Amino acid sequence: MNSTTDEVPAAPIPLSRKPSGRGGTDAEAVGKTACIRTFGCQMNVHDSDRMRRMIQDAGYAEVQRYEDADLVILNTCYVRENAVDRVKGHLGELNRLRREGRVQRVALTGCIGAAEEARSLRETYNIDLVLGTHNTYELAEFVGLPTMRETYTPELPGTEGEHSAFVTIMTGCNYQCSYCIVPTVRGRMVCRPMESVVGEIEDLVSGGTRYVTLLGQTVDAWRHQGKRFCDLLEAVSEVAPRVWFTTSHPSNMEDRTLRAIGERNTIVKRLHLPVQSGSDRMLKVMHRGYKAERYRRKISVFREAAPEGTLSTDIIVGHPGETEEDHQLTLQLVEDCGFDSAYIFKFSPRRGTEAAELSGFVPDEVVQRRFLEVLRGVEQNAFRRNQRKVGRTEEIFIRHGATEDGKAIGETWSGHAVHVATDAAPGSYVKATIESAGPHVLYARTN
Ligand code: 5AD
Ligand code: SF4
Repeated sequence: MNSTTDEVPAAPIPLSRKPSGRGGTDAEAVGKTACIRTFGCQMNVHDSDRMRRMIQDAGYAEVQRYEDADLVILNTCYVRENAVDRVKGHLGELNRLRREGRVQRVALTGCIGAAEEARSLRETYNIDLVLGTHNTYELAEFVGLPTMRETYTPELPGTEGEHSAFVTIMTGCNYQCSYCIVPTVRGRMVCRPMESVVGEIEDLVSGGTRYVTLLGQTVDAWRHQGKRFCDLLEAVSEVAPRVWFTTSHPSNMEDRTLRAIGERNTIVKRLHLPVQSGSDRMLKVMHRGYKAERYRRKISVFREAAPEGTLSTDIIVGHPGETEEDHQLTLQLVEDCGFDSAYIFKFSPRRGTEAAELSGFVPDEVVQRRFLEVLRGVEQNAFRRNQRKVGRTEEIFIRHGATEDGKAIGETWSGHAVHVATDAAPGSYVKATIESAGPHVLYARTN
């Protein structure tokens, strides 16, 4: 989440090249291969993890390239039109490979699968299986496993025994932001019981997990039997050695949670709190349910609780009706909050959302200019803040081991991404001194 971009980067899924050896249950699947491609947010990465387990259980070996795969699963995002365009590009390529006999079956899952548009895509591209976000368990049957409704539900852990794991604590969203398709494709909020979440995390930790990320569209809206998100976070921080959570909604974010981030030493001091706009008028049009001042107040509580912490956000430029004055208010908010990073999105009309029907279209060249102005504001702040880290020695959690250039990618307790020259294994910690910094990453040397 530490990049500044106009689209959510497709999360690459590390795939093994060998069969899992988990004991396939479908004789027919023996020797078969599958490739899962994930687009969009961490929820999708997590859903892909679950689907990966299903195909492994069915005896499929995972491969990286479409041309090596009998079955290709595209787990997709519907949040912006460019996400759909990218998937169409992949579907076109898959059709070609299928004509050449190199790919046998194609499944489309995730948020596009849950949208109306999936029907026409299915016809145009001859897709074999279309699944939404609530029936991914049907993939089990498709790959030759017995029907698994009970097993493959949101209750099921996505990742096991890895050094890092995503744990879904809630699905869906009860907000109705003007521009957003998520409530349509993911449905209303469903919260998972606390014992189930904590129990899963205890199991993961005893299996070797060192870093747990709590996931949901609005994680801080989690509530269950009188408990609220902060209660859950505190309980998790007692059992997991390292915890982070995403994504939050400013209307649900309690001061208590912000203070817990600062106080509890197992919680990464990194807050992702999407603001979308700095203009009260736009926030109202968007139905965000808070004003810019309230957002600023939350940020000052966070900065006080975790002065070294990192803050990121989402901002939409060019929502229908956004005036130059609204845009200036966003720039001012960017300046005041001093974000360490931000996802900046150009408004993309989604059929079925309120904003798609609104007047007040903002011309592309204006959107582009506003996008760059917000980007420049964020990067200047981020660069300035990162420079302050130079010369400090930090404890760094290694997320990805060293690549050919000898650099591993890690994270400080303040949530900064760091490139560090070390051969330490993923999941371990190293002490390193920050030597230089750019707007997005710190560069460190081990002591
Ligand atoms: N256009 C542009 N950005 C959008 N987002 C959601 N829907 C749209 C849209 N229609 C952005 C919001 C949200 C993030 C995940 O994607 O900023 O927080
Ligand atoms: Fe979409 Fe708003 Fe829900 Fe976030 S809070 S998922 S932007 S509707």
